[in-house]
Amino acid sequence: MRNEVIFFINGAEHRAGGEGVFQTLSRYLRYDQRATGTKIVCEEGDCGACTVLIGRREGKGLRYRPVNSCIQFLFQLDGTHVVTVEGLSRNGLTPLQESMVRTHGAQCGYCTPGFVMAMAAMYEGGARPASPADVRSALTGNLCRCTGYEPIIKAALDVNGQPAIDDLFPPAPIVEALPNGEGVRIGNFFKPASLAQAIEFKAAHPKCVIVQGATDFGVWCNKRGFVPEAVLSLDAVPGLDELRIEGDELHVGGRTTLAVLEEFVEGKIPQLAKILDRFGSPQIKNAGTLAGNVANASPIADSLPFLYVTGATLELSGSTGVRNVPVEKFYRGYKTLDLQPDEIITRVRIPLPAAADSLRLYKVSKRSHLDISSFTAAVLMRRRADQIESVRIAYGGVGPVVLRLPKTERFLAGRPFALETFEEAGPIARSEITPISDVRGSADFRYLLAGNVLRKFYYDVR
Ligand SMILES: Cc1cc2nc3c(=O)[nH]c(=O)nc-3n(C[C@H](O)[C@H](O)[C@H](O)COP(=O)(O)OP(=O)(O)OC[C@H]3O[C@@H](n4cnc5c(N)ncnc54)[C@H](O)[C@@H]3O)c2cc1C
Ligand code: FES
Ligand code: FES
Repeated sequence: MRNEVIFFINGAEHRAGGEGVFQTLSRYLRYDQRATGTKIVCEEGDCGACTVLIGRREGKGLRYRPVNSCIQFLFQLDGTHVVTVEGLSRNGLTPLQESMVRTHGAQCGYCTPGFVMAMAAMYEGGARPASPADVRSALTGNLCRCTGYEPIIKAALDVNGQPAIDDLFPPAPIVEALPNGEGVRIGNFFKPASLAQAIEFKAAHPKCVIVQGATDFGVWCNKRGFVPEAVLSLDAVPGLDELRIEGDELHVGGRTTLAVLEEFVEGKIPQLAKILDRFGSPQIKNAGTLAGNVANASPIADSLPFLYVTGATLELSGSTGVRNVPVEKFYRGYKTLDLQPDEIITRVRIPLPAAADSLRLYKVSKRSHLDISSFTAAVLMRRRADQIESVRIAYGGVGPVVLRLPKTERFLAGRPFALETFEEAGPIARSEITPISDVRGSADFRYLLAGNVLRKFYYDVR
């Protein structure tokens, strides 16, 4: 068992132990390493100024993805290679940086290193953006206050011969030197190499926080002064990265990131891919996990309405074995879970919607991307000819937990598939929810959405 984490930054080995592992990567870069190209602005994952690439083992090489370094902690970096803007520019400006200069893509320049790192990710693996829409999507997590986005988008498209990170940092020596699958214990931080050890630690430290992507945890620490009593990482627990279709179910391992899930369901569950496209930003999805979204228990978590209507089950592993809990039964009240202190979500099992079923997922937010939902909805309907056979409806943002709408579902079942049916269902749906007014919308607005979304569903699937 090691008592330090080992990672690489721009091709050089770093080791960290003691209290130092609890600092964020952005602070380590700027204040310990004087690598000030990486900027800190919001320190909560919202602006992208701190974007770096993190390379993790994939097959025999490293796969680099953009991540917000302000909500990544050193203890999360064990076994990774971090590339910052200084590393990208190690042989001088790369073609994409030259393109930023040519198109006047920077004014004050504070956001520029973050943009450049997110753009570099677009050119990884032989890819390149084909259209402004591709660029906008890849740069969702980067904000610029002064230049305006048009020159930046132009710069991202007008690039020739951008080197891959593997060209700048040949992977073989790094991969060979990085630790792989070994346990780490540093004070109250534990990265066990087996599930049994993880459960044992969680039982002994009931208040410990499982930190996966830290996209929720990082914000609590940076903005609310949260200090965890103990931290458990699942990174070295074998099997938790599984992602496969077995029979008519999708199995998502407890460590699967939202980005990996999005890539996997593209073409298989298009509605889920669409809602994941609206989830945070690439930087957030490259770190954040589905299990983290479920465990964080926000009533506006974007994955939950889908999990409710498909009838997903959570596999919870603890000292006494494995329990399977339907996701709907998992939430006992606002942020109150049916999760024992020693239990870990090891898998989410999702029944696949049948080909003939109509599924629609909705997210209403003030901005279309990188915004917290005001209201979410999922509707899954089975139809026979012109009659509704059955419907499952779940709404988020209208109560302390995501809600199923049993009265509305009963009303719709057996009725004709017609606009009037869905209009009549609206008031019933409104009677089943208890929204409040907050910064994201008034209760009245949410009541309105609760009815209108059913009408939208009708138009979307007719
Ligand atoms: C800028 C920004 C944008 C965001 N956008 C969205 C959005 O569009 N939609 C949305 O729904 N959310 C959004 N989020 C919230 C967050 O990204 C998600 O909730 C994410 O899925 C959390 O996953 P994580 O792995 O980062 O969790 P972490 O922060 O690592 O952990 C969160 C909580 O889950 C618990 N946990 C994690 N894994 C397990 C497990 N296997 N078993 C038991 N408990 C576990 C942890 O103990 C902790 O309490 C956003 C966050 C930020 C900072
Ligand atoms: S500083 Fe804004 S996302 Fe990190
Ligand atoms: S150039 Fe000033 S914030 Fe983007």
